[in-house]
Amino acid sequence: MFVLPLILSVAVAPFVLGQDNLPLEIEAVEAHFNNSGLVPSLLANFTPTAVFSLAFEGTDGTVQPGQAFTDKKVAPTPNLTITGGNFTAEELFTLAMVDAGPVGSDQSQGQTRHWLVNGVTLTGEKAPFTVSTANGTAITQYAGPAPPAGSGAHRYVILLYTQPSTFVAPEGLTEANIGVSTFDFPAYVESSHLGELVAGTYFTVEEGTATASPSSTAPVVTSTLPAAVSPSKTGSSAAPSSTSPGDNQTGSASVSKVISFSAVFAAVAAVVVLN
Ligand SMILES: *[C@@H]1O[C@H](CO)[C@@H](O)[C@H](O)[C@H]1NC(C)=O
Ligand SMILES: *[C@@H]1O[C@H](CO)[C@@H](O)[C@H](O)[C@H]1NC(C)=O
Ligand SMILES: *[C@@H]1O[C@H](CO)[C@@H](O)[C@H](O)[C@H]1NC(C)=O
Ligand SMILES: *[C@@H]1O[C@H](CO)[C@@H](O)[C@H](O)[C@H]1NC(C)=O
Ligand SMILES: *[C@@H]1O[C@H](CO)[C@@H](O)[C@H](O)[C@H]1NC(C)=O
Repeated sequence: MFVLPLILSVAVAPFVLGQDNLPLEIEAVEAHFNNSGLVPSLLANFTPTAVFSLAFEGTDGTVQPGQAFTDKKVAPTPNLTITGGNFTAEELFTLAMVDAGPVGSDQSQGQTRHWLVNGVTLTGEKAPFTVSTANGTAITQYAGPAPPAGSGAHRYVILLYTQPSTFVAPEGLTEANIGVSTFDFPAYVESSHLGELVAGTYFTVEEGTATASPSSTAPVVTSTLPAAVSPSKTGSSAAPSSTSPGDNQTGSASVSKVISFSAVFAAVAAVVVLN
């Protein structure tokens, strides 16, 4: 009789900023980062405390992690909000978007910087808070993706870090309006003394037909995430087999299944009913 633990696991979730399903949403994003190989190839670890809501003009609703777009759809600067975390209105953040290439690509060659803003603030009375770049320093203004044709589905990763008072912009990235170029993003985070990684998401853009076979990524089956199935497993869904980064098996390239957060909740509800 697993009904009680499941209901409890949802009910005891902290009601930080009024989001009762936040832990499950965070875990789903973590699973997407794991399954797409972004962890650990770009980020050694990824334990955000908030979730992004990313919206482009003319697209329907919030971008789901790993969602595929044409370059035209993601050309304008998107709107970003976050839900979760626990920050004051004075707190500063750094917002970045980097091209981590297709799944399996060698991150030691660096990442293309598509957006980098220091001094970002969160505005609004309650969640979702607007991630505002208005008073920040846009080291690199948002530059829409334009991956080379035939190079596969590039992963554009958007990340928000706390920017403590000890932050020092590294040489070459101290002034506004430096164009798109390749840099070592993990080294930037380290050397500038950025703080906690607050939230992250990513989307993909592919031009033309891929000439290389991308690595396969496993779908995220949210009903099997620990926060959804605890302490017992459901019988109905298979656990996702994770793909290790750099593992470039050719063959079937099953693109990460996009599961909306409301579907996550529906899955939890279904599990409760089934039991
Ligand atoms: C992601 O991978 C890390 C290990 O790299 C693991 O500890 C964590 O539980 C995974 N998270 C999810 C949600 O799959
Ligand atoms: C982005 O924010 C602006 C200003 O708040 C708003 O007018 C616009 O409709 C928003 N666009 C999307 C796609 O959410
Ligand atoms: C948020 O942070 C403040 C001070 O840092 C703390 O007093 C408060 O308990 C925290 N709230 C939550 C919901 O974690
Ligand atoms: C930007 O700074 C001005 C002046 O300090 C302030 O009034 C405004 O609220 C700030 N805007 C944002 C989005 O933080
Ligand atoms: C896959 O890995 C092999 C060697 O391990 C390498 O020669 C090949 O270029 C890689 N393919 C892709 C698509 O990355």
